[in-house]
Amino acid sequence: MEYLRIQGGRRLAGRVRVDGSKNAALPLLAAALLTDQPITLHNVPALTDIKNMLSLLRELGVEVIGESGTVTLRSVDENQVHTRYEIVRSMRASINVLGPMLARRRRAVIAMPGGCAFGERPIDLHLRGMQALGASISLESGDMSVTAPQLKGATIFLGGPNGSTVLGTANVMCAATLAKGTTIIECAACEPEVVDLAHMLIKMGAKIRGAGSARIVIEGVESLGGAEYTVMPDRIVAGTYAVAAAVTNGDVIIDDFPIDCMLAVIDRFQHIGVIVEQLDPYQDTMHATVRVTSTRLLKPTQITTQPHPGFPTDLQAQFMTLLCFAHGNSVITEKIYAERFLHVAELTRMGANLQRFGPTVVVSGGTQLKGAPVMASDLRASASLVLAGLAAEGVTTISQIEYLDRGYHRLESTLNALGASIERLTGEAIVETVAGSGAQMLESKSARTPSPTLSLARG
Ligand code: EPU
Repeated sequence: MEYLRIQGGRRLAGRVRVDGSKNAALPLLAAALLTDQPITLHNVPALTDIKNMLSLLRELGVEVIGESGTVTLRSVDENQVHTRYEIVRSMRASINVLGPMLARRRRAVIAMPGGCAFGERPIDLHLRGMQALGASISLESGDMSVTAPQLKGATIFLGGPNGSTVLGTANVMCAATLAKGTTIIECAACEPEVVDLAHMLIKMGAKIRGAGSARIVIEGVESLGGAEYTVMPDRIVAGTYAVAAAVTNGDVIIDDFPIDCMLAVIDRFQHIGVIVEQLDPYQDTMHATVRVTSTRLLKPTQITTQPHPGFPTDLQAQFMTLLCFAHGNSVITEKIYAERFLHVAELTRMGANLQRFGPTVVVSGGTQLKGAPVMASDLRASASLVLAGLAAEGVTTISQIEYLDRGYHRLESTLNALGASIERLTGEAIVETVAGSGAQMLESKSARTPSPTLSLARG
């Protein structure tokens, strides 16, 4: 069992590059099911979720070369249509294979995904989309069997109680590429990861317009070919690095920062007093180089998570940590996943002053956080705890870091190269209180896993 031990209080400085996006890469990998020609993806991040998706694709008859960086996929056995519960349970994003499989193989049998750590995660909109395209759906022993001898274009409204659905839009868009006739997705998700997928599908021969807006129009084609494509940088990882710089009063240069799709985040940074400066104004805004510094006195603010281009739910937890250091009361309202607050209790263990009222948390900032043993409980909550540990006084230990590894590749190595002091340890951690000082110290009989260091230019 691995855990992180963070010695807090170090200022971060230096230079870091953002990896390829997990949430863009997952549907791009699944899109390999839409053709029998090779798909080559570059900039695929080395993450557990990617590994899981590649295993799933292998089970579905796809030959895979490479695990991260450059990955080539070729669908060779189109008789495989079953996605097992064990896989769907470990990764909800397995639902990504539904649209591509149905489009090309005419059938998909997918275990019904359950909820996740932060609440119910329905797929009714995905299924509504498939039905509108002519699929019939039945449920047997927890498996959904979705069949369509010939998909037909349709007008589909994908709005739900909390806006559109990102993976639902990706699924319907993929299915519609090979449907007969024209499909209009109304109330489509505008997230940049949907745009990235549309760009690759177009390279494969699909006819799609409007991706990135609330109306996407797809004209079905007979077949799709192979393509080579580079995954966009991860906007959530970029935002997490920027918060790391801000909470440590640091000075960090971040390359491959997709500023173009982070305007709501930049807006909140500016409001709080964190300066995100694009170094070369003529650079491609999806691959910008920015410098992040912060003013001495951070200001409180209000944040409401929303579908893109609003503030992303996937950065809510990290900003809660940041706002613990702002002087005054901030208000965070979660509008996508009302229960996505697993980090609140753990941050409170570190001395954060947080009060939750349903989907809203009031952050009374300005008190110094203190290191403590805490537990990761979902991907973004884990990231917020790492950030809190960086800025806290003393030692923080974070257990269950397998959640963190789902979306951040060796986050501790990247942060150490910027001056943090984080160790990845294995075994049982023993927490001791140092008599008299009140400070907590972690004594471990465990093995230390050396964190590979990156070579970074100092900024
Ligand atoms: N929803 C429905 N019905 C559906 C689908 C969704 O009511 O059929 C609701 C959800 O309950 C939620 C809202 O619609 O309230 C949005 O959910 P969405 O379907 O857009 O989420 P998703 O596509 O399953 C992706 C990301 C999430 C990210 C959300 C929102 C991937 C693999 N996952 O999930 O990422 O939070 O979009 O932006 O792309 C993460 O990376 O930590 C993560 C959870």
